[in-house]
Amino acid sequence: MKRAVIVGTGRYVPPRVVTNADLTRWMDTSDEWIRQRTGIEQRYWVEEGVRTGASDLGLAASQRAMAKAGWQAEDIDLIIFATLSPDLFFPGSGCLLQHKLGLSATPALDIRQQCTGFIYGLATADAYIRSGMARRILLVGAEVHSSGLDISTAGRDVSVIFGDGAAAVCVEAVDSDAPLGVLGSVLHANGALAESLMTEAPASREWPRLTEAMLRERRHFPTMDGKSIFKEAVRRLPEVTREVLEATGLALEDIDLFIPHQANFRINQFYQQSMKLPEKKVFHNIQRYGNTTAASIPLALDEAVEMGLVGQGSTVMFLGLGSGLTWAAAVHRF
Ligand code: ACO
Repeated sequence: MKRAVIVGTGRYVPPRVVTNADLTRWMDTSDEWIRQRTGIEQRYWVEEGVRTGASDLGLAASQRAMAKAGWQAEDIDLIIFATLSPDLFFPGSGCLLQHKLGLSATPALDIRQQCTGFIYGLATADAYIRSGMARRILLVGAEVHSSGLDISTAGRDVSVIFGDGAAAVCVEAVDSDAPLGVLGSVLHANGALAESLMTEAPASREWPRLTEAMLRERRHFPTMDGKSIFKEAVRRLPEVTREVLEATGLALEDIDLFIPHQANFRINQFYQQSMKLPEKKVFHNIQRYGNTTAASIPLALDEAVEMGLVGQGSTVMFLGLGSGLTWAAAVHRF
C-alpha cells in the first residue's frame, strides 16, 4: 500500500525582527495588549522596498527541506504551494517557485485556503500519492503579509498578529502495510463566513478591480471580525479533532504531539484545556513568529523536529481554522 510520508522539513523567515515595541512607532498599541490578547512577542517581516514575494521565502524553505530529504529539484513530480499572499494576482506562486528551483515542466498547484492551506495541501498530496499520480511532492506554505497590512491604528487589530515566513515538507510515497505517513484527514469550509476575515481588493467582482476610492477606503487591507473567529475556533478545533480521530481509529492518547495553527496563543491554550491535554502535548511558537498563516503549521513542525519533539514513530495531529472559513485536521505518523 502506498503511504504519503513526510521525509524532510525546512523553514525560512526573513532576518528583520519586528517586536511589539517596534509596532508602537506606527500605531496606538502596546506590548502588554499584544502579549495578553495573542501571546505574540515578535514576528519577522521582509525588508521594506526589497521585492520579496511568497515564492522567495518558499524557495529558501524548500531548499532546506529538500536537503534534509536528500532530494534534488529534478526528483519532484508535483509542487503544492499554499498561500494567501501570492507574489502576483496570477499566475500562482507555485509556478514561480518551480522556475526558481530550476525546473521547467514540473506541475505546480496553488492552494488558497489560508490558515488551513497546509492541511488541505497535505490531504491533496496524500490523495495524489495513494492514487499513484505522484511519488515525490514538495508542499510549501509561505506568506508575505507585511506588504499588505494597515500598520496605522485603524488596522491594529489585524496587523499586530501577522508575520512573514515559509516552511516546506517533502512528501514521499513509501510502500508499506504498516500505518505510516498520513493516516487520515478531515477538511471543512463554510463560505457563509467568508467576509469575517478577508482582503476585499483587488477583486474580480469590482469594475475595475482596484480604484483610487478602494485604496482611500482601505479595502486593500485585511479586515477581521476577530471575536466571531475566536468563538468559531474554540468550537471547531475540538470538533474536528474528534472527527479525525474517528476517521483514523485512534484515541486522543495515541497522539504524541498536537501542532495547531498558530493564530492566537489563547485559542490554543483554550483548546488544550478543553481537550484536557497535558500542556507539553500542544506545540506553541506564536510568541516568536506571530501568525504566518499557511506557513504556521509546517514551520512549527520543523521546529518540533529540530527540538526532538517529533521523530521516527511519533504520531502528530495538525489542526487549524481560519479565513474561508475553513477548518481541518490531519494525523501523520513519522
Ligand atoms: N492594540 C491595542 N488595542 C487594540 C488593538 C491593538 N493591536 N487591537 C484592538 N484593540 C482594542 C480595540 O479597539 C478594542 O477597544 P475598545 O474596547 O475600546 O473598543 C479592544 O482592544 C478590544 O478589541 P477586540 O477586537 O474585542 O479584542 P479581542 O480580545 O477580540 O482580541 C484578537 C482581538 C486578538 C484579534 C482576537 O479576536 C483573535 O485572536 N481572534 C481570532 C483570530 C484568528 O484566529 N484568526 C484566524 C486565523 S488568521 C487567517 O485565517 C488568515
